[in-house]
Amino acid sequence: MSEIKKMKFAILGCGNRGQVYADYALQCPEEAEVVAVIDPNPVHLKETGDRHNVPQERRFDNIHDFLAAKIECDSVVNATMDQQHYETALLLIEAGYNQLLEKPICPKEDELLDLERKAKEKGVSVLICHVLRYAPFYKRIKEILNGGTIGSILTLEQNEHVKIGHFIDSFVRGKWNDENRCGSGLLLAKCCHDTDLMCWLNNASAPKTVSSFGQRAWFTKENAPKDSTEFCYNCPHTNTCLYSAQKIQLDVDEFPFQTWEGMGKPIEEVSYEEKVEYLKTNEYGKCAYKFDVDLVDRQVVNVLFENGSTATLTLVGGSVRADRYIHIVGDKGEIEGHMIDEKFVLRIFDREKFDFVEEIITVSDDIVSSDKYGGHGGGDFALMKDYVRFLQGADTSISITRLDDSLNGHKVVYAAEKSRRNETVEKIR
Ligand SMILES: NC(=O)c1ccc[n+]([C@@H]2O[C@H](COP(=O)([O-])OP(=O)(O)OC[C@H]3O[C@@H](n4cnc5c(N)ncnc54)[C@H](O)[C@@H]3O)[C@@H](O)[C@H]2O)c1
Repeated sequence: MSEIKKMKFAILGCGNRGQVYADYALQCPEEAEVVAVIDPNPVHLKETGDRHNVPQERRFDNIHDFLAAKIECDSVVNATMDQQHYETALLLIEAGYNQLLEKPICPKEDELLDLERKAKEKGVSVLICHVLRYAPFYKRIKEILNGGTIGSILTLEQNEHVKIGHFIDSFVRGKWNDENRCGSGLLLAKCCHDTDLMCWLNNASAPKTVSSFGQRAWFTKENAPKDSTEFCYNCPHTNTCLYSAQKIQLDVDEFPFQTWEGMGKPIEEVSYEEKVEYLKTNEYGKCAYKFDVDLVDRQVVNVLFENGSTATLTLVGGSVRADRYIHIVGDKGEIEGHMIDEKFVLRIFDREKFDFVEEIITVSDDIVSSDKYGGHGGGDFALMKDYVRFLQGADTSISITRLDDSLNGHKVVYAAEKSRRNETVEKIR
């Protein structure tokens, strides 16, 4: 491998994801450096600026001041929230910056196509954070498919199970709980990774027709226990309910950076008593059945590809175990596995025996520890490593995701949402 030069990054949006990518510079200081930070939230701006020793004159509370300062850098990491992606990504493109843009690219198809066109016109790169392409589980599957071992894909089946704590924290009480507020429905916010994987793994062809069903049918007022209250703190069911805020937010506290964000100070400065008070009036303390939103809690998506191959994706929120499952059937073999098991089964048809032979492929050893290097089965860290190489014009991995390579996965989501809402079958444009 040729020597890697140090790349300079600006971080736009210094929340949870922005900090994960910025921290690559602490893990691999010889490869990356954070030279500017931009965020209207003073707590996030200070935390990230201090962590990376960014001088005060290169800390900005808005993108316009950053652009006016004409800071030199190799790329801007755009980790703003979904509904800010289009506007901010466009400004960066027009200013001539390369960018690493968080998924989903944006909630509307015309905006997505506009970004693609403008980036081409301007000659800048926009890469998308499809971290799961980097998770060893999916990367290894892709390598096997590319090697032709299971032949041509006939069907591909995927499941995404979002476990109780995660679903409640992010999609019932959290900032992705209302499409009108956050810009994305559940399929776009949570499963544009899965539709991306579907199109990437099956990229011998392109998606052609889509249908989808789904609704919110469990987290509804009708399903709330009869004498339950609006907030969990004074609810008679708080000690038994699976979704109790006392349990999920206070005791388990799985995503503290989301739950306590609205308190306006660093989490380590928030006391237990302050948290208890906060949950008495904030949405994070509200009964999970009583939100007045229509974000689905289950959805199925069916896709027909141009070459006749088919794919299905089932998404459910509130499962007892977090998991992604995949089963790909090719004309010469099959691949089947649960991501959580860190292994999958490869079955190949043996013509002599006229039966299949099976091999277990374990990927645990390829996963970089998630404690040290962020999550997504090692995907976060591997993505940044590859991105640094991309910026330098070095060889990159099969997982690299340019904007135009992510179009099909997004188009499947837009078509599926149209189909679900209108009860129609949609053709991909
Ligand atoms: N790749 C993945 O697997 C993955 C996982 C989780 C989230 N995401 C996506 O990453 C993005 C960020 O999510 P997050 O959880 O870090 O959100 P976050 O709310 O923690 O961070 C977003 C930050 O952007 C800042 N911001 C808002 N408007 C801005 C603007 N105009 N200019 C600059 N900064 C602005 C906010 O103050 C906040 O600090 C979202 O699009 C989300 O869907 C991707």
